[in-house]
Amino acid sequence: MSASFKIAIAGLGTVGGGVMKALAARGGELSSRAGRRLEVVGVSARDRAKARGFALAGWTDDPLSLAKGDADVVVELIGGEEGIARQLVETALSNGKHVVTANKALLAKHGLALARLAESKGVTLKFEAAAAGGIPIVKALREGLIAHGVNAVKGILNGTCNYILTEMESSGRGFADVLKEAQAKGYAEADPTLDVGGGDTAHKLALLASLAFGVAPDLNAITTEGIEHITPEDIAFASEFGYRIKLLGIARRVGNQIDQKVQPAMVRVRSALANVSGAANGVLVDAGEAGPFFFSGRGAGDAPTASAVIADIVEAATGAPSFVFGRPAASLRPLDPADGSKAVSPWYLRFEVLDVPGVLASIAGHLAEAGVSIESMIQRVRAPGAPVAIVMITHETAQASVERALKAIGASDKVRARPCMIPMES
Ligand SMILES: NC(=O)c1ccc[n+]([C@@H]2O[C@H](COP(=O)([O-])OP(=O)(O)OC[C@H]3O[C@@H](n4cnc5c(N)ncnc54)[C@H](OP(=O)(O)O)[C@@H]3O)[C@@H](O)[C@H]2O)c1
Repeated sequence: MSASFKIAIAGLGTVGGGVMKALAARGGELSSRAGRRLEVVGVSARDRAKARGFALAGWTDDPLSLAKGDADVVVELIGGEEGIARQLVETALSNGKHVVTANKALLAKHGLALARLAESKGVTLKFEAAAAGGIPIVKALREGLIAHGVNAVKGILNGTCNYILTEMESSGRGFADVLKEAQAKGYAEADPTLDVGGGDTAHKLALLASLAFGVAPDLNAITTEGIEHITPEDIAFASEFGYRIKLLGIARRVGNQIDQKVQPAMVRVRSALANVSGAANGVLVDAGEAGPFFFSGRGAGDAPTASAVIADIVEAATGAPSFVFGRPAASLRPLDPADGSKAVSPWYLRFEVLDVPGVLASIAGHLAEAGVSIESMIQRVRAPGAPVAIVMITHETAQASVERALKAIGASDKVRARPCMIPMES
């Protein structure tokens, strides 16, 4: 075997710890796949005294020093779009070292500049674990599904949201209650905003869209809505109509433009995406003539993410060249965003209204005025005096028309809460 391939790892938490353990357990087999002995020459984290369950050979308190030493690859598993993670990646690339990272926030924001830097130094920057954890979707989009082009990528990319929605459905409980339980079980962060607000899904979507469509990752071109406003009632109604609510990251080609959005959507109960349960992830790729492909599996946790990180390390060790986003950085187009409000689908609409004469007629009037036609309707009477839930399913309608109608309807003092609109995916 030729000279060893030297690895430096910064960040020894969930992902970094998983990588260390897998390298310790299967180092021989992985080295034989790499064609070189894989050798961890340096590690760093915040607290050396923390019990971690693996040896800390090559420890340094200064992660940046790993980017300046003799490592062939620097593995950044600290996290964060700025600060030490960004500095480490930039320094390592500038010093001609390969970089492997799981940091979607960093790449979604600075991916293009980092790809340029990696290329200028003749090294690779790999990020399989950054989108959908253990699912090899980055490799599939970067190398596998290129012959016929990709029309659309749709994914359940955040395990926390999927866990919450799955639990809300099975238990009938509300969002806040289930979130609290998810935090207690370690499925949700103490500050869940990035997950439940859709920001984490947007980071991952920006990367997948770049790989799929040859555009620079562009977070600003993604309209993002989270799951905080989804109620058990929405979930129960969805089920009555034969649907399930999922938080989807969707990127699709519209002519020469790309429409990217993160939003709760109804998917048919028997569809592949509807059956991605709990903390799992799933990604559907419409690969043109090659057909649709569906990937599912664990999107987070030590072993699945370590699986993706180690695949990247071994690939870097073999010297297999690959462009960061699947093509030279210079040929990544600036993303030309499609007008998402033109997207057409049937819509689920829910209104909370006072049970007084004329309310229904007024809602119907505003919908008709905006050109929204109704396919079916359910009205639920609650206790006397309590607001009534009116649910409607529209025919195929552009988002902008529905929004226009809901703005007018929401202004009425007979409507008790912001009307809810959720697209129904075909
Ligand atoms: N967790 C997942 O399932 C998952 C899945 C996909 C992608 N990711 C991504 O993977 C990355 C790491 O996530 P994680 O869940 O493993 O995080 P984590 O468990 O919080 O671990 C972070 C590690 O970074 C170290 N660290 C923090 N600040 C540091 C600093 N200033 N200098 C040196 N070390 C520092 C911490 O040190 P101490 O251990 O001493 O505190 C810890 O070892 C993030 O980019 C995340 O988005 C995570």
